[in-house]
Amino acid sequence: MKQTNSPKTYRVKSFGCQMNVYDGERMAEMLAERGIAPAPEGEEADLVVLNTCHIREKAAEKVYSDIGRLTKAGRAAGKEPLIAVAGCVAQAEGEEIMARAPAVSMVVGPQAYHRLPEMLDRAVKGERATDTDMPAIAKFAALPERRRVTPNAFLTVQEGCDKFCTYCVVPYTRGAEISRPYQDLVTEARKLVDAGAKEITLLGQNVSAWSGEDERGHTVGLAGLIRDLAKIDGLARIRYTTSHPADMDDALIAAHGEVEKLMPFLHLPVQAGSDRVLKAMNRSHTAESYLKLLDRFRAARPDIALSGDFIVGFPGETEAEFEETLKLVDAVGYAQAFSFKYSPRPGTPAATMDGQIAPEIMDDRLQRLQAALNRDQFAFNRVTEGRTCQVLVERKGKLPGQWLGKSPWLQSVWFEGNCAIGDLVEVRLGEAGPNSMAGELLERETA
Ligand code: 5AD
Ligand code: SF4
Repeated sequence: MKQTNSPKTYRVKSFGCQMNVYDGERMAEMLAERGIAPAPEGEEADLVVLNTCHIREKAAEKVYSDIGRLTKAGRAAGKEPLIAVAGCVAQAEGEEIMARAPAVSMVVGPQAYHRLPEMLDRAVKGERATDTDMPAIAKFAALPERRRVTPNAFLTVQEGCDKFCTYCVVPYTRGAEISRPYQDLVTEARKLVDAGAKEITLLGQNVSAWSGEDERGHTVGLAGLIRDLAKIDGLARIRYTTSHPADMDDALIAAHGEVEKLMPFLHLPVQAGSDRVLKAMNRSHTAESYLKLLDRFRAARPDIALSGDFIVGFPGETEAEFEETLKLVDAVGYAQAFSFKYSPRPGTPAATMDGQIAPEIMDDRLQRLQAALNRDQFAFNRVTEGRTCQVLVERKGKLPGQWLGKSPWLQSVWFEGNCAIGDLVEVRLGEAGPNSMAGELLERETA
């Protein structure tokens, strides 16, 4: 590969989960620190980072077609961009990418992206580099400080997964469960608040498996961390995602009833409603134990909004088993949820199981499930009509004077009035829509 000039502009394209979005932001910050500017909208960038997701679909194929498109557009514009492939596809298929796509000069895994600047120095000299090591803690120490963040900021507290659900690539791409140290998180949360955060969402593939040692040397779990973060002045809201039912302890449930800053929202994936399917998925819970767990959260915090993840068409899923998923949905009444068609992931146990489901059956089941989930989301929104609550203003709306913010229950709320991004304002929720609420600004609480 020939030498190139140092890039002046970059673009980071993140796919997939919130943790990838977080990683993408951190990579962008590192590039900005080097004096590289975000490419203006509509212009080709000198450096493109494809921050990929491997959880579903033909992820790798998409990466190759993105690379092809970028090279073509670059040639047309007279300069081919430097391309870095990051994220979970990089981790899973780094070597193949290097072999198949000469246009790629850097392949960097999710636990190694703090080394992107060094790799970039080498790429400019024409060297190609792959780094898919997994020293996750070192990564966080090596990242630059965050000077300006959005009012709703993310903080990765835990990475990796030891659960090995049989359909899932995460344990292979993100590695074993690791928790970032307590003190690092408290310090980073304070800095996020100084940098403008009003709300912090604690991120982890299994965030409720986080554990650490507090200042007094006591072992604490996620609930302990949340209680201590709640003491930070200027931090108004705390959320966390994503959890596995096996790690939800009494302390976390109690925190929902006691910590005012902890928002009344729980994202707790269930995946399916049939115990046979759950067992084949290696989920370690049943439909009933999941429902009982939710009851305990509801007892602690009666207005808690519930969210989940679902997979339809897991190998061997019968029509009757799928109907058990619908039954579970009816029993819960989710405020929102994510649902997916099962996608065989190379190297996972489920990919080679008998009874792979035909695409048209999956389509049909997904449609029926989503109809039920949409119905319940709308119903949840209608129940909140007339409530007065605080809304965190996240951005301007399309109309003049219009704003978009989030309710405590994570609903998008549109309203008009005099306020600014980052304000927490008192709003009366008005007419419910299927995906958002209209609101009326009552008063401006804090600036
Ligand atoms: N196919 C479909 N959905 C999947 N998920 C994880 N792996 C797969 C797969 N192979 C879904 C699960 C998980 C969410 C992040 O993605 O519902 O909770
Ligand atoms: Fe994947 Fe299961 Fe771990 Fe979630 S808990 S990341 S679905 S293996």
